[in-house]
Amino acid sequence: MNSHQLLKGKKGIIFGALDENSIAWQVALKAYEQGAQFVLSNAPVALRKKDIFKLAELTNSQVISADVTQISELEDLYTETMRLMGGKIDFVLHSVGMSPNVRKSIPYEELNYDYMMKTLDVSAISLHKVLSVAKRMDVINDWGSVVALSYIASQRTFSSYSDMAQAKAMLESIVRQFGYHYGRTNKVRINSISQSPTKTTAGTGVSGFNSFYYYAHDMSPLGNADAMACADYCITLFSDYTRMVTMQNLFHDGGFSSMGISNKLIEQYEKCFDPQRED
Ligand SMILES: NC(=O)c1ccc[n+]([C@@H]2O[C@H](COP(=O)([O-])OP(=O)(O)OC[C@H]3O[C@@H](n4cnc5c(N)ncnc54)[C@H](O)[C@@H]3O)[C@@H](O)[C@H]2O)c1
Repeated sequence: MNSHQLLKGKKGIIFGALDENSIAWQVALKAYEQGAQFVLSNAPVALRKKDIFKLAELTNSQVISADVTQISELEDLYTETMRLMGGKIDFVLHSVGMSPNVRKSIPYEELNYDYMMKTLDVSAISLHKVLSVAKRMDVINDWGSVVALSYIASQRTFSSYSDMAQAKAMLESIVRQFGYHYGRTNKVRINSISQSPTKTTAGTGVSGFNSFYYYAHDMSPLGNADAMACADYCITLFSDYTRMVTMQNLFHDGGFSSMGISNKLIEQYEKCFDPQRED
């Protein structure tokens, strides 16, 4: 896609680029292409993987480590970002998620509740912390834009998505509620993008991911949206062209969320239909 310099002069923070499959990685490349300046941030443990420093080189940006669950680390991140950028910022990407219950394949009916608290803290409450500290420290310019990444399991049951479903429901709720408060005082807008299944570290960690992925692909008239298309959508939300959009959960899923069944799935189901079946 051509660079229209949609983000020329805009400054931001991009959380969550782990490796080149990450959605945040693609957002960073596109934001750079569109003229933005930003800081890349990730948890200290993710920085050990080192890939993010390659992205920093590609996008002429600095990397600052912060665990999004730690208020003091967010404070340090904002202080350092404002020093590097010479002032306030215009956009934030929250592209962060993790569930120890999913990682350890613990059945949903037997969730470990300490792990569940961790899931909610990292994947949802962290958005509140990112916003709350930013508001208190007055980090985001008026009409700034914050985008978080969600998934349709917040609203419908996807059997193996586990406690990440509750985390995404809470994330979307924080988007709506903080969107009111930050919008009223500073015109800062906050939205979530409900993205198609995407082949990333977090995505493929969900058990049965291939079924999530191909089912959604075959159901959606446009097929699954990939990370690059998601990055394009993020750029529009950071740009001034969407300045009156806030408090929304925006589906970016090739049409999946409006579907019941598709011809492709009917054909596949018909192929394996057992005429003796009685249930
Ligand atoms: N991949 C999918 O199928 C899919 C679909 C819809 C939504 N999402 C969402 O997109 C977002 C990005 O995930 P992704 O798919 O690019 O995978 P990813 O694994 O590349 O990114 C997840 C990121 O979260 C970071 N993270 C985890 N704990 C952290 C902490 N305590 N502090 C700071 N950072 C931390 C990881 O280091 C990693 O960079 C997540 O919110 C995810 O739930 C993903």
